[in-house]
Amino acid sequence: MLQNQLLKEPGLQEEILEGLLSETKRLPSKLFYDERGSKLFDLICMLDEYYLTRTEIRIMKDNIHEITSFIENPKTALIEPGSGSSIKTRLLFDNMKELPVYVPLDISEEHLLKTAETLKRNYPGLKVIPIAGDYTKDFEAFTGAVPQDFKKVLYYPGSSIGNFTHRELQHFLKIVAQFLGHGGGFLVGVDLKKDPSILHSAYNDRENITARFNLNILERLNREFGSDFEIQNFSHKAVYNHLKDRIEMYLVSSLVQTVHIAGHKIFFARGDKILTEYSYKYNPAEFERLTHECFRKESLWTDENNYFGIWYFTVR
Ligand code: TRP
Repeated sequence: MLQNQLLKEPGLQEEILEGLLSETKRLPSKLFYDERGSKLFDLICMLDEYYLTRTEIRIMKDNIHEITSFIENPKTALIEPGSGSSIKTRLLFDNMKELPVYVPLDISEEHLLKTAETLKRNYPGLKVIPIAGDYTKDFEAFTGAVPQDFKKVLYYPGSSIGNFTHRELQHFLKIVAQFLGHGGGFLVGVDLKKDPSILHSAYNDRENITARFNLNILERLNREFGSDFEIQNFSHKAVYNHLKDRIEMYLVSSLVQTVHIAGHKIFFARGDKILTEYSYKYNPAEFERLTHECFRKESLWTDENNYFGIWYFTVR
């Protein structure tokens, strides 16, 4: 039996087909995060090679009182797009007496609701308002969830912001600033430029968890979209593009093959690749230049190696 979950989302079918039928094939990154994908991503975050999570948590722990001082207020709503398992957010809650309202948003509904239930149990004083949805599409849909006279703070950790192209980032920042309104806060974790060999290992781990995570997109299309990708005929590849300062994630066809999907045939030569995600890396000056128009920098915290940065901005 086909699970029709994916087919429900308006426009997604078209987006998938358009991406696969175009000259440079690509698939939308949000397909990563079904229940299985969300679990694999949690495993990625625990890998030795994936320094990002560990480093971001270290920076938070080292500066937690300064960080929470920007948020701690019962009339603040902390909004987290792509909240996943809300692991880092717990650090904030653990260190605040006055809890904000918490609005986690995630595309993986089952995972989101489970996490919300656990949080409610663990933090009885916290009001949790989970919202299932795609924040890259309908940010305004979340406006209704936040009590009117509350200050809004957007928490966006994990360098998810690096997954936008520069053009998408500009658009996203404008939408976020508009949504938060004057005086609203933006707490964001960003992966910084560093030796490319460190980046390479982070996205090509020895245990191949990242490969399973990437390939899960194809399995998901088979399950929910009725396609016939032969998973063993594709492999994971992550490369650093020096000119664009980004990791590029691909699924590479290991032979000549044809895949069927929704009445279409997709042809692959050997070595043909499908782009699944970009992960841009910034240096602090660059990131501040990009945010300058809409946001005022309040503080930047980093680790001793300058691997990762956490910024607190307010809307101008
Ligand atoms: N935001 C994460 C990052 O850019 C997402 C990520 C980590 C990811 N590993 C991945 C996305 C592997 C696709 C494939 O670091």
